[in-house]
Amino acid sequence: MSAPASNLTINADRLWSTIIETARFGGTDKGGVRRLTLSEEDRQVRDWFRAACEAAGCTVTVDGLGNMFALRPGKDMTKPPLGIGSHLDTQPTGGKFDGVLGVMAALEVVRTLNDAGIETDAPLCICNWTNEEGSRFAPAMMGSAGYVADLPVADILARTDAEGVSVGTALDAIGYRGPEEVGAQKLSGFLELHIEQGPILEAEGLPIGVVEHGQGIIWYDGRITGFESHTGSTPMHLRKDALATLSEIVLAIEALAKAHGPNAVGSVGEAVIARPSRNVIPGEIAFSGEFRTPDAGILDALDKALQDKVKEIAARRKVDVRLDTIWRKEPTHFDPVMTGAIAAAADRLGLPHRPIVSGAGHDSFHLATLVPTAMIFVPCKDGVSHNELESAKPDDCAAGTNVLLHAVLAVAGG
Ligand code: GLV
Ligand code: MN
Ligand code: MN
Ligand code: MN
Repeated sequence: MSAPASNLTINADRLWSTIIETARFGGTDKGGVRRLTLSEEDRQVRDWFRAACEAAGCTVTVDGLGNMFALRPGKDMTKPPLGIGSHLDTQPTGGKFDGVLGVMAALEVVRTLNDAGIETDAPLCICNWTNEEGSRFAPAMMGSAGYVADLPVADILARTDAEGVSVGTALDAIGYRGPEEVGAQKLSGFLELHIEQGPILEAEGLPIGVVEHGQGIIWYDGRITGFESHTGSTPMHLRKDALATLSEIVLAIEALAKAHGPNAVGSVGEAVIARPSRNVIPGEIAFSGEFRTPDAGILDALDKALQDKVKEIAARRKVDVRLDTIWRKEPTHFDPVMTGAIAAAADRLGLPHRPIVSGAGHDSFHLATLVPTAMIFVPCKDGVSHNELESAKPDDCAAGTNVLLHAVLAVAGG
């Protein structure tokens, strides 16, 4: 006997305990998670995920980039499955919810359907995408980039981390270079639940965001070569100070983002001084930077303005600055049928919602280039993410998962 799908709700306690249980893989003293992609901790959570999906009746496959697919059969196996999920890797000092919520919510949807004896028309496929974060290997959203052929698989496998370890070697080291061809697991669409990672929903007291757009992103790698010399004896006008140069570039990125409207953001997240010493003028610095905006034209304008500004700063300071664009992701526009299914599911559950733009990057941005895709956001405390303090309320996680469940039933056919 199957329960009426219209009244179905997920098991909120079970969802919460899976989030807390998996946070122990790479759990930090401050209550966060350090689970860099393809690390030993990543292997542990992947093993847990595989076992949990198999216990829920799914067949798990792994492709050549370590992307994991847990297939739950449907009534019509000629239909490609509807994908649901997110990522299990975290930032070096990340939280318990970024990515994990979307994967655990997808598992909870399958468990709920199992308990209720409901078989969807189309099969479902829980996805765990490799290296969404991009903090060990650049760029971010790497596994899904390979899946949609945005980057060649061989190129991805050859990317290296700061220690020179390649993605291919790291996959082999944890036993997650799977036999499936990348892209072979077809999907008919993709739905991802995620914390907002920003302050809007919390400030407006809304439990659900229907993500309609995703920001375009440019990532830069930079290197400044000035000249190391004595801090005490080198007159100010003869210095070639790499750190002072970087300071100007950081402020230029900030000023350009501010000048290009409320939705543009820009930052320098990393800077490493070679051979740092209190009494040596920094002569060499490596840094990374980025711009994000939902408007492709503004992304072009920011890029050109920064390149021009960097040339001007380098010439004036007589230092050499290299600024390489290592990644560009165009803005994403999610599928109206999928966003409509999410809004309708929230309405049916009596959950207030609003349309929202994603500031963070997500695998759904790549999936959206291939199949109808959309995302659900739930609030997180103070909008804080990429931080061990990241926090979300059990009720909000449950509300988002219920919206996912009903959107899945509408799209996959319950
Ligand atoms: C990854 O989380 C990103 O948005 O850069
Ligand atoms: Mn994420
Ligand atoms: Mn993240
Ligand atoms: Mn992200």
